[in-house]
Amino acid sequence: MKAFKLIDLRLLVVLMLFIIQSGVAQNSIKQKALDEKVQDFLKKNKSNWRDLNVPYEDGQVLHDLILKHNYKSALEIGTSTGHSTIWMAWALSKTGGKLITIEIDEERYKKALENLNAVGLSGYVDARLADAHDLVKQLEGPFDFVFSDADKTWYTQYFKDLQSKLSVGGCFTAHNVNNNFSGVREFMDYVRSQKNFETSIVGSRGEGISLSYKRSK
Ligand SMILES: C[S@@+](CC[C@H](N)C(=O)[O-])C[C@H]1O[C@@H](n2cnc3c(N)ncnc32)[C@H](O)[C@@H]1O
Repeated sequence: MKAFKLIDLRLLVVLMLFIIQSGVAQNSIKQKALDEKVQDFLKKNKSNWRDLNVPYEDGQVLHDLILKHNYKSALEIGTSTGHSTIWMAWALSKTGGKLITIEIDEERYKKALENLNAVGLSGYVDARLADAHDLVKQLEGPFDFVFSDADKTWYTQYFKDLQSKLSVGGCFTAHNVNNNFSGVREFMDYVRSQKNFETSIVGSRGEGISLSYKRSK
């Protein structure tokens, strides 16, 4: 009876290991298929973005940052038709995270939804049609990654509204900080003056992406 129970237990353990392993294998097959689909879409559409979208290279920067730090809770301000959204959602599909993205223009919002559907990433994105001036204040957070790419004159205010909702170790990024747009200088001065944030600029096509890492509360 005792020996039978021991065999029973061993069988159960083997069965459980098998179930876990096949689950892991299935997930990695699914992720591989998704990776291929997204890569194809991004490459095919590399020069087709017409709605103030980030260049391919900057999308890659956002994707790599999320992966590198294993970020899981991301916010994008300024979806447009979803180029940067796709890059970030793709990274979050690998970290097990999710992205909230905000767009005020209905046509662009709808096109972004279409693009996310086409590429198989809708499940990683909570897309909102809203004025980010109001919605950003209402969102609870915490976020570990923010990408600010809407109205530049509001960059400083977005940062102020989000800095306490950003986790320590998290990163607030903003696009076009090398451009002379109104509001960008004020934003850069403000983030650089924050003692608990460490700010630098990256970006491969000249527009510049600021990275402000939150080092302490
Ligand atoms: C530079 S585009 C974003 C490009 C997008 N990140 C991409 O790479 O595909 C800026 C977007 O912000 C949107 N926007 C501007 N002001 C906004 C606001 N107050 N609330 C939400 N979206 C806003 C614009 O309609 C525009 O589509």
